Amino acid sequence: MSSQPRDKTDEMVATVSAPGNRSFLSRKSKTFWMLLVAGIVLLIVAIGLGIGLGVGLSGGSGDDSGDGDGGGGSSTPLPPSNNTNATAGEYWKPASGTSWQIVLQNPPTDTSLNVSVYDIDLFDNNASTISTLHAQNRKVICYFSAGSYEPNRPDSSQFAESDYGKELKGWPGEHWLNTNSTNVRTIMSARLALASSKGCDGVDPDNVDGYDNDSGFTLSPSTAVDFLNFLAIAAHGYNMSIGLKNAGAIVNATVGFLQWEVNEQCVQYQECDLFRPFVETGKPVFHIEYPDSAPSISSSARNSVCDDAEAHGFSTVLKEMDLNDWVEDC
Ligand SMILES: *[C@@H]1O[C@H](CO)[C@@H](O)[C@H](O)[C@H]1NC(C)=O
Ligand SMILES: *[C@@H]1O[C@H](CO)[C@@H](O)[C@H](O)[C@H]1NC(C)=O
Ligand SMILES: *[C@@H]1O[C@H](CO)[C@@H](O)[C@H](O)[C@H]1NC(C)=O
Ligand SMILES: *[C@@H]1O[C@H](CO)[C@@H](O)[C@H](O)[C@H]1NC(C)=O
Ligand SMILES: *[C@@H]1O[C@H](CO)[C@@H](O)[C@H](O)[C@H]1NC(C)=O
Ligand SMILES: *[C@@H]1O[C@H](CO)[C@@H](O)[C@H](O)[C@H]1NC(C)=O
Ligand SMILES: *[C@@H]1O[C@H](CO)[C@@H](O)[C@H](O)[C@H]1NC(C)=O
Ligand SMILES: *[C@@H]1O[C@H](CO)[C@@H](O)[C@H](O)[C@H]1NC(C)=O
Repeated sequence: MSSQPRDKTDEMVATVSAPGNRSFLSRKSKTFWMLLVAGIVLLIVAIGLGIGLGVGLSGGSGDDSGDGDGGGGSSTPLPPSNNTNATAGEYWKPASGTSWQIVLQNPPTDTSLNVSVYDIDLFDNNASTISTLHAQNRKVICYFSAGSYEPNRPDSSQFAESDYGKELKGWPGEHWLNTNSTNVRTIMSARLALASSKGCDGVDPDNVDGYDNDSGFTLSPSTAVDFLNFLAIAAHGYNMSIGLKNAGAIVNATVGFLQWEVNEQCVQYQECDLFRPFVETGKPVFHIEYPDSAPSISSSARNSVCDDAEAHGFSTVLKEMDLNDWVEDC
C-alpha cells in the first residue's frame, strides 16, 4: 500500500496545471501573494456584505428566496437548500458494467470511443467539449479534487491558510484540506455549480480519503462520510450524480447515496472485494489498473487484471498513469 501510483491522478492534474517547472520557493511566494490579495478582496467583500446586510435589515424588504451565491458561480442557480434527503432526485443512475473512458491529462483528443461515459477534468474542459460528448450520446462525469488544495486551479486563492493541512507526500504545493471547514465547503459548492453550468451529468470528487493519511487534521471515516453526504445533497440538487473515489473503508456507509465507485488499482492491491457492494446494488465500479508496461501490455498482464474474480462485473480499463487518451478495456 505504499507505492506512488495511487496518488498519480492528483499529481498528474497538478502537473498538468503547473506547466514550466517552477521551484517550490517561487510557488510558495506566489501563494503568499495570492493569499494576501485574497485577504484584501475578502475584507472588501466583508465590508460590502456588512453594508448590504445593514441596508437589508433596515429596509426590511423580506426577500428570502434564492439565498446568496456561494461565491464563484455567479450566474448559476443554487440547488434547493431545503433538500436534505441525500438519495432523492431524478439524476442519472448508471447501471453496473457501464463502459467508460477517463482522460485527465488533457481535454480528450478522441471523443468518439464507443463508451457510455467520459470522466474528464472539470476545470480543463469547456461546455462545448461536454456538449460534443452529449451529442454522441455519452454521459460526462467531471473530475475535481474535493479533499486537496491544488495551487493552480482558478479558484485556489479562495482557500484560507487554515483550510489546508500537510502536503500530500511527494507533491509539493498540494495540501490535504479540512473538509469540515465552512470555507472549503463553500468553494466545493461553487465547483458543483460550475460543473452544473458546464452540463456535467455527474461529478468525481477526489481525495476524500484523507483519513487514511497524515493530513494534519483529525479526519476520520465518519468525517469523510459527512463530507460526501454534503456533496451528494448539493450535487443531486443540481440533478447531477456523484461517486466515491477509492476510500474502501467507507463503501458500506456511502453506497446508499452515491451512484458509483471510481477505483484505482484494486487488483494490484488485492482489495477489489471492498468495492463489490456497488456492483451488488447494481451500480458501476469504474475501475482503473495501470499495467507496468502500458501502452504495450502482455496478454498475461492483461489477463491478470481482466480475469480477477473479485473485480468481476467492474467497468475495468487499463490506462497509463498520466491518464492520457490511451485506453484498453477487458
Ligand atoms: C423547499 O421548501 C419550500 C417550503 O417548504 C417548498 O415550497 C419548496 O417547494 C421546497 N423546494 C423544493 C425544491 O423542494
Ligand atoms: C429519500 O428519498 C428516497 C427516494 O430516493 C425515498 O425512497 C426515501 O423515502 C426518502 N427518505 C426520506 C427520509 O424522506
Ligand atoms: C435530471 O437528469 C435526468 C437524467 O439525466 C433526466 O432524465 C431528467 O430529465 C433531469 N431532470 C431535470 C429536472 O432536469
Ligand atoms: C458500441 O458498443 C455497444 C455496446 O457495447 C455495441 O452494442 C455496439 O455495437 C457498438 N457500436 C459500434 C459502432 O461499435
Ligand atoms: C473548448 O475546448 C476545446 C478543446 O480544448 C477547444 O478546441 C475549443 O476551442 C474550446 N471551445 C471554446 C468555446 O472555448
Ligand atoms: C495516503 O495513505 C495511503 C495509505 O496509507 C498511502 O498509500 C498513500 O501513499 C498516502 N498518500 C499520500 C499522498 O500521502
Ligand atoms: C465540523 O464542524 C461542525 C460545525 O461547523 C462541528 O459541529 C463538528 O464538530 C465538526 N466536526 C469535526 C470532526 O471537526
Ligand atoms: C461491508 O459490508 C459487508 C456486508 O454487507 C461486509 O462483508 C464488509 O466487511 C463491509 N466492509 C467493510 C469495509 O466494513
